[in-house]
Amino acid sequence: MTTERSLVLVKPDGFSRGLTGAVLARIERKGYRLVALEIRTPTRELLIQHYAEHEGKPFFEPLVAFMSSGPVTAVVIEGERCVEGFRSIAGATDPTKAAPGSIRGDFGRDFGHDVTQNVVHGSDSPESAAREVGLWFPGLT
Ligand code: RTP
Ligand code: MG
Repeated sequence: MTTERSLVLVKPDGFSRGLTGAVLARIERKGYRLVALEIRTPTRELLIQHYAEHEGKPFFEPLVAFMSSGPVTAVVIEGERCVEGFRSIAGATDPTKAAPGSIRGDFGRDFGHDVTQNVVHGSDSPESAAREVGLWFPGLT
């Protein structure tokens, strides 16, 4: 059975630019289901846990500051191989390099000579997804 869940975030740049609907449309067009959705401004505490793998890296503090700067749309999606599938829809981390047709390639660009603002987050493995869904939606079964 390959049905799985992934955590998607429309980051503060995407949310403030009104791109949540466009991101959700691409997820639904691909055939993944929406399981949970919430708009919230994440706390530093949540983000430090969410991005624990990056703690100590030079981009960690700017990343946490950016991600806590305003509302995000947090979404749990479900579908066969949706973790890998959403990463493919999202495109490469660097929005300047992300392929046209991907979310980051179509909507993102370099803001301020770094890749912090890249519209969306997607879990990078089924294990990360389970951990992240638990962090963002602790009540979800
Ligand atoms: P995400 O976790 O947000 O889905 O992105 P990702 O897997 O493509 O990239 P990751 O390596 O996990 O990095 C997490 C987020 O940190 C910012 N970042 N900045 N300045 C930098 O070199 C740098 N590298 C990463 C981006 O916002 C990236 O999405
Ligand atoms: Mg990542």
